[in-house]
Amino acid sequence: MEVLVTGGTGFVGREVVRQLHAAGHRVRLLVRQPGAPVARQMATVHGAQLCPGDVLEPASLPPALAGAEAVIHLVGIISEVGRNTFENAHTLATQNVVTAAKSAGGVRYVQMSALGTRPDAASRYHQTKWAAEEAVRASGLAWTIFRPSLIYGPEDHFVNLFARMSRWSPVLPVMGSGRGLLQPVSVTATAQCFVRALTESASVGRTLDVCGPDRLSFVELLRTVLAVLGRRRRLVHIPLPLARLQARVLEFVFPRLLGRAAPLNRDQLLMLQEDNIGDPAPVCALLGLQLEPFREGIRRFLVPG
Ligand SMILES: NC(=O)c1ccc[n+]([C@@H]2O[C@H](COP(=O)([O-])OP(=O)(O)OC[C@H]3O[C@@H](n4cnc5c(N)ncnc54)[C@H](OP(=O)(O)O)[C@@H]3O)[C@@H](O)[C@H]2O)c1
Repeated sequence: MEVLVTGGTGFVGREVVRQLHAAGHRVRLLVRQPGAPVARQMATVHGAQLCPGDVLEPASLPPALAGAEAVIHLVGIISEVGRNTFENAHTLATQNVVTAAKSAGGVRYVQMSALGTRPDAASRYHQTKWAAEEAVRASGLAWTIFRPSLIYGPEDHFVNLFARMSRWSPVLPVMGSGRGLLQPVSVTATAQCFVRALTESASVGRTLDVCGPDRLSFVELLRTVLAVLGRRRRLVHIPLPLARLQARVLEFVFPRLLGRAAPLNRDQLLMLQEDNIGDPAPVCALLGLQLEPFREGIRRFLVPG
């Protein structure tokens, strides 16, 4: 199939592109910076055709979609910067891609959402992902929506952050109680969902959880990372009011003064305080996924060889 991927230069997107290419699909990438090393690498290693564009620029979408048989829409953010607000990067972006896909006609559509997405969600991340899902469900396209929990892998933004931190720091921070449950899933399994859904007609019209076999609290997750690395570190709980204050400062300093997304924000704190768990059975049955325990999955890249 001729597949357009948005967000293909990101952590999840790079694995999706790798698997699409390996499965024999022709890949196009909507990219904001075609000259960036990661975009060029996708083109040279995985034969991706680079289509300059931005999901917030509706006029850039029809040329990228011309002749495409499927769209995998992955763009999303965890922290706001510039005009990439949650409302824009999730809801408006999806509305733009859906509109362009409808105009292109007959396009298979696969949407990245997130576990915890619901209409009455506490966080703006989940609220705007919900509005995006609703736009997809109302589109009339042949759609599938995936809702992953925390995604881990060799180049993730989470396990690797704490693994790096534990190299030099005697303590690791836990925001609040750290008792909210997560069900981490590998980037390999997550990407398999997107690639396999393209050719599995029974996935059309389905909204599916994508999560691993283990339900771990934040604290248990950090302890597992430390155990795999063979390190002993103290976990220090940051009281939520203090964490919120810290997040508020970072939200101001990073986007406004450094032009970069904040490493921690108040929306993330809201999400960390709630359980982020689901049921992987339907997606496993439908797409033949084999899930591995978190401990084994992270060992593969934290302790290579
Ligand atoms: N990582 C997780 O644990 C997790 C869990 C559940 C759901 N998700 C969802 O999975 C998706 C991918 O996450 P990720 O971790 O791979 O994120 P990521 O590494 O930050 O990648 C984000 C991608 O979106 C692109 N992008 C951002 N704004 C754009 C815009 N305005 N126009 C075009 N492209 C734009 C980025 O392109 P540039 O290269 O130009 O920056 C990049 O390719 C997101 O929707 C996220 O909400 C992630």
